[in-house]
Amino acid sequence: MDDFSGIDGFFGTRASLAMDLMVLVMALVTVALVWSVYQVKVRRRFGLHRRVQIPLGLGLLVAVVLFELDVRLNGWEERAAGVVGGEASGVVWTALAVHLVFAVFSVLLWPVVIVRAVRNFGSPPQPGGHSAWHRRWAPVAAVGMILTAVTSWVFYAVAFVG
Ligand code: HEM
Repeated sequence: MDDFSGIDGFFGTRASLAMDLMVLVMALVTVALVWSVYQVKVRRRFGLHRRVQIPLGLGLLVAVVLFELDVRLNGWEERAAGVVGGEASGVVWTALAVHLVFAVFSVLLWPVVIVRAVRNFGSPPQPGGHSAWHRRWAPVAAVGMILTAVTSWVFYAVAFVG
């Protein structure tokens, strides 16, 4: 795998280090998100939920920007093809398109959910007039992010494994 542009990952697949790191980051985000929703929904720990969701949103933003830079600079298609100069197959492009639908949706919805929550839930955050909106859209944002993670893993498997 030495001839591909960029640094090889640590999972032992054809993927780059940035890809492997992103697979891990999305796993950590999924766990933190499920835990944070459990804390607010079942245990009603609103402050804890806020302390998780804001860094989670900011952390994701930083990770995505760094990841995009790496992928744009070094490319990924040769690694997906398994040959220097190669192109990704139709299945790989389809998996990427499905992933991008969820990723773009999440990138647009998350900032709206976070900014509205910070503005309207008060400090310390408490249920109130904003609850109905948040209870409708925050679960959509959460499920959207989990589907973003799942579809990223499918893309990774199709493109870089086997
Ligand atoms: C994208 C980021 C966020 C997601 C995905 C998210 C997700 C959720 C979910 C799934 C619930 C449970 C809704 C239900 O009971 O049906 C919830 C409740 C809540 N969240 Fe968030 N949340 C986010 C950001 C925030 C932020 C930044 C704050 C505080 C500033 C916040 C404050 C609350 C509060 C106070 C509730 C309880 C609402 C109520 O039951 O009346 N959330 N959130």
